[in-house]
Amino acid sequence: MKGRLIVIEGLDGSGKATQTAILCEKLRNMGLEVDNYSFPDYESESSLLVRMYLDGKFGDDPNSVNPYTASCFFACDRYASYKTKWMEDYQNGHIIICDRYTTSNAVHQCSKLPEGEWDSFIEWLYDFEYKKIGIPEPDCVVYLRVDPEIGQKLLSSRYNGDEKKKDIHEKDVEYLKKSRITADYCADKCRWKTVECVDNNGMRTPEDIGEDVLDIVRGLLNT
Ligand SMILES: Nc1ncnc2c1ncn2[C@@H]1O[C@H](COP(=O)(O)OP(=O)(O)OP(=O)(O)O)[C@@H](O)[C@H]1O
Ligand SMILES: [Mg+2]
Repeated sequence: MKGRLIVIEGLDGSGKATQTAILCEKLRNMGLEVDNYSFPDYESESSLLVRMYLDGKFGDDPNSVNPYTASCFFACDRYASYKTKWMEDYQNGHIIICDRYTTSNAVHQCSKLPEGEWDSFIEWLYDFEYKKIGIPEPDCVVYLRVDPEIGQKLLSSRYNGDEKKKDIHEKDVEYLKKSRITADYCADKCRWKTVECVDNNGMRTPEDIGEDVLDIVRGLLNT
């Protein structure tokens, strides 16, 4: 019995790692077999080209690497993770939760293209990864919707104000603003499940957001 692949998606600093951890714990407490992975797989050698790209080795501006090329770097990293870490468990029915996935490429690389090219890029990307490369297509993508300014603030506190620790995407505010537009576009086009993480009082608490995420996932799993 094939497992399920659930992706937690969102802009930088939107709480993906936090929500992935909360969701995994809740599902495990329900007695389900759950494994979680995070992309890029920074600790693995498979992310070398991704790290070179994000460190600015090909240029400090994200636009110095075209979306198709950058996507290949991230796709290879995902393939390596799938083949060496979770293919068997997934094929044996485990629930796999990924903090970012192919969907992050849609968000972060579309922002380099004019709007008229977004659809064809997304079609190319999904065909490339899910059909040609053959990694699994997600059963559900949960999109944590956060204003880029708020995400940036949460990240700054993580880096203790040291801007030098940010990668070429994280330090480019204009690029991040465009990514919010492309994220909303992808969520709508690809029917991602949007969780509004910000309300009139600012960022909702992780526990509160986690309830919404669990509701979505329970709907998918019929539990
Ligand atoms: N709902 C929340 N309210 C306040 N702070 C939060 C909330 N969720 C996460 N944080 C904090 O914000 C920071 C970013 O969260 P997290 O690492 O989960 O985001 P991320 O989306 O995985 O970030 P990145 O895109 O950089 O990987 C962390 O310091 C985390 O503790
Ligand atoms: Mg993270």
